[in-house]
Amino acid sequence: MLTAREIVEKYIAFFEKRGHKRIANAPLVPVNDPTTLFTSSGMQPLVPYLLGEKHPQGTRLVNVQNSFRAQDVEEVGNSRHTTFFRMLGNWSLRGDYFKKEQLPWIFEFLTDKEEGLGLDPHKLYVTAFSGDKRNKILKDTESGELWKEIFKKHGIEAKKVVLENEEKAGKVGMQDGRIFYYDAQKNWWSRAGVPEKMPAGEPGGPDSEIFYEFDEVEHNPKFGKFCHPNCDCGRFFEISNSVFMEYLKQPDGSFTNLPAKNVDHGGGLERYLCAHENQSDVFKTSLLYPIIKALEQVASTSYEKHAKDMRIVVNHFASAIYIIAADVSPSNTEQGYMLRRLLRRGLDSFYALKGTDLAPIIESIVNAYKDTDPLLLEKYEHIKASILEEEESYKKARVSAQKAIDKELAKKGIRRGDDLTSVLEIPADLAFKSTASYGLGPTQLKSLGYTFDDQAFAEEMKKHQQLSRVGAEKKFRGGLADTLEKTIMGHTATHLLHQALRDVLGNQVHQSGSNITTERVRFDFNFDKKLTDEEIAKVEGIVNEKIKKNLPVHFELIPTNEAFNMGAIGLFMDTYGNKSKIYFIGGSNPHPNPLPKGEGDHGRAYSIEFCGGPHVEFTGVLKSFKIIKQENLGKNQKRLYAVVG
Ligand code: SER
Repeated sequence: MLTAREIVEKYIAFFEKRGHKRIANAPLVPVNDPTTLFTSSGMQPLVPYLLGEKHPQGTRLVNVQNSFRAQDVEEVGNSRHTTFFRMLGNWSLRGDYFKKEQLPWIFEFLTDKEEGLGLDPHKLYVTAFSGDKRNKILKDTESGELWKEIFKKHGIEAKKVVLENEEKAGKVGMQDGRIFYYDAQKNWWSRAGVPEKMPAGEPGGPDSEIFYEFDEVEHNPKFGKFCHPNCDCGRFFEISNSVFMEYLKQPDGSFTNLPAKNVDHGGGLERYLCAHENQSDVFKTSLLYPIIKALEQVASTSYEKHAKDMRIVVNHFASAIYIIAADVSPSNTEQGYMLRRLLRRGLDSFYALKGTDLAPIIESIVNAYKDTDPLLLEKYEHIKASILEEEESYKKARVSAQKAIDKELAKKGIRRGDDLTSVLEIPADLAFKSTASYGLGPTQLKSLGYTFDDQAFAEEMKKHQQLSRVGAEKKFRGGLADTLEKTIMGHTATHLLHQALRDVLGNQVHQSGSNITTERVRFDFNFDKKLTDEEIAKVEGIVNEKIKKNLPVHFELIPTNEAFNMGAIGLFMDTYGNKSKIYFIGGSNPHPNPLPKGEGDHGRAYSIEFCGGPHVEFTGVLKSFKIIKQENLGKNQKRLYAVVG
């Protein structure tokens, strides 16, 4: 049996032998990419190269990438979801190789006993893209044919099945199908998801996935009448994803071809281990089971009895350890907030298991991962101290939250009585208010001895979601408090406002900050005098005129020097290597260099700004723009508030 480390070594060696160069594992907290909190896949740091930039190490790359997916936090607790994982990836850039090399190679890696994992090919099922009429993207018959050939070589007659709905799964019967076609929901990959969700300038393409079948897992009808590779019952497990990245979303919503075709393949190391060990529970693999065993010791209970809490402890603390190793400390914003949330959720489960001493758990996690990440050993003392310190602060926060909530309840005549451990039933709105005020989750509130109606709580949360979106996943994208449509509209308005201020007040004006919510746009800039009513009216008038012209908005990755030469403005932070992400309002693509500035139509851009996005596709979406307030921030700084829509 191969260990996790041996799997990494085999994968790298397999692709190195086929001309690939190993690239470094990028930092878990991305450098110079303010659009995302954590690196969540191997392709993320490679976006500029997938868009066509030349990679210094060539056109064939391979690596193992530490990845964290914040959106999966709530899912952790079942046998397969993890927030932290390692992705084994290989890439073909600038049109090097494509489907006919990638699919046989990855199948060979998975099945070959010498060079790969030695999986039984009979246990593998594959999927491909069934096409997208709306976006004029054809069915991926080439992958289907290639898969047929590949299976044939292994003596398997693989039938193709188009599976857009579950009815068909029933009709064809799993025993007949081996190559399954699904639509964009399942077989299209981009960072933003399906084609419709992709912003202009985003690359994506059809993908082809490989699933491993655990025969001992019976299909659970809770997940649908029939089982098929993409069913969530646990019988099938996705282990590999080859994305054929060949399309680019355009500002008008259509798709064009990228300058060259790419392959972006990713497979989860932990999932490879599951398949290799034929173990459907990732927490029972040779990598994670020793941690579960340590937990059983500390908690004096068995995994069978308390699987969910144990999985949460193992996963959340492992993720937290890697995040601390990336030099993040618990806090109330961004990465630090996510770290705090993981630690506190993990602690709740640890306390539910009646655990008291965390140290052996931290030690066993570092032990499990040190083979592939010796850095964890180097930083061991710091990691341990950070976690124990956060535990102390959480303990204090719990005590003060409980006191304050009890006090609030007492005003309403609800008292705990003498038995301090008794459970208090509280109204859902108060429960929600308490979670918001003390930074606790609903589970944490329950662990303090309160019960409430879950459904009513969820409704309260929904009601307040628009107002209180400050979670870590909702990264402040260039001053954005969330990514709701109204906020994105406000973001585009700041670009227009920025240029309009320069038009009216002079080019010495520069943005110094912004904050955008669904309610309003806040924009800070340097200017020494109070703006007159006339100046404000002029600025407003220009922005409204640009809105009326319905100018297209798009971005390009441009060499940073060239962007400066074009006169791009903005907070200079959206650089990728030596290129920068530049948003244009008005103008056409590609831009002449140097770019004439002017009206914003007839091929001229009105605004050119360094920015990570996101933005609306046309300014007309903004409808109207009004400045509602001016503030003096001192030190030559002014602040404007405005509304759109
Ligand atoms: N980018 C794809 C994924 O994350 C394949 O690497 O699944």
